[in-house]
Amino acid sequence: MRLQQCPIRRSGTTLPASDAELLDQGLGELDQFPTLDGSFSLHSSLFCEAFHNSAGALNEARAKFVRPAEVQRFKPDHTLRVLDVCFGLGYNSAALWDSLSGQTSRMQWWGLEIDARPLRLALANTGFINHWTHSTFNRLRSLDQCSEWTDADGQGTLLFGDARQCLDNIPEEQSFDLIFHDAFSPQRCPQLWSEEFLKRLGDRLAPEGRLLTYSRSAAVRTSLKRAGLELRSLLPAPGERQGWSSGTLAIKPPLLHAQSSGDGWRSLSQLELEHLKTRAAVPFRDPSGRDHAAEIIQRRHAEQRVCGLESTNSWQRRNGLNKPKNDRPSPLHN
Ligand SMILES: C[S@@+](CC[C@H](N)C(=O)[O-])C[C@H]1O[C@@H](n2cnc3c(N)ncnc32)[C@H](O)[C@@H]1O
Repeated sequence: MRLQQCPIRRSGTTLPASDAELLDQGLGELDQFPTLDGSFSLHSSLFCEAFHNSAGALNEARAKFVRPAEVQRFKPDHTLRVLDVCFGLGYNSAALWDSLSGQTSRMQWWGLEIDARPLRLALANTGFINHWTHSTFNRLRSLDQCSEWTDADGQGTLLFGDARQCLDNIPEEQSFDLIFHDAFSPQRCPQLWSEEFLKRLGDRLAPEGRLLTYSRSAAVRTSLKRAGLELRSLLPAPGERQGWSSGTLAIKPPLLHAQSSGDGWRSLSQLELEHLKTRAAVPFRDPSGRDHAAEIIQRRHAEQRVCGLESTNSWQRRNGLNKPKNDRPSPLHN
């Protein structure tokens, strides 16, 4: 499956695919993608998109996933239950593990990923390895070698395959305090941002559990809201271009203390709420959980044509706004 030909200039070194089978399945080539904080990242030729924004992979993992997770709200004897959707090179989970290092926190961890190469390539990069404590590195290495880790603080399992199907392989009774959702952007990978998939993720959250994503797309936010979650907006990562939002925190009610702001997040602004009333809020739908990206995009366009909502362009003009970008900012496709 190829979504579309890359209209962009390729930069960096083309990395050889380590797994010919994956290339046969059309997962495309991975190129090195240098980021401003010096952290190693990749660019996918299939999705025509970088894995992280240009401000930096580590930067982004800390600001958009670890910081707003606010794990200090849990009691020390709590076993933290985490699901990392689109594990990739592993930055988000590794940054979380490192943030807990030295604390007596137990963890039950699950990851979903379709391609084994990003982690393999990251572990071949010395700069990447040097970011992490010894125990985090051991977990990453173990995931690369046998898709699991076990240590004194818990255990983790990485499931390889399409996240839509792999989610069913996590025991039904397993709920999560944190879900990191870090798929490629909704326009490139709509199958992982569909109303149906987001609802299934929302159903897996424990009360007060948090889903974190860099996406601020109105369609994604609307689907998370319809899944019964409360929405908050993420603050930009250091060095990141200031926009009107840097991502979304979705919280599962009931909330004991409904705060309007926290570490790295705030309530949605009036503008963000209005964005949810425009055509951009029409969700991505994938009723069978098996549709290709093109079918999902087409279905959404058809629904947008008849939805009766104000066009997002006219709403932007009315408010003197630049087009809100749903995608992860990247110089490769700006
Ligand atoms: C933006 S990158 C994730 C970056 C990652 N969180 C990190 O810290 O490196 C998106 C990832 O989604 C994976 N992916 C794409 N389609 C998928 C699918 N259907 N199911 C599971 N993973 C998928 C890609 O292989 C890629 O690693």
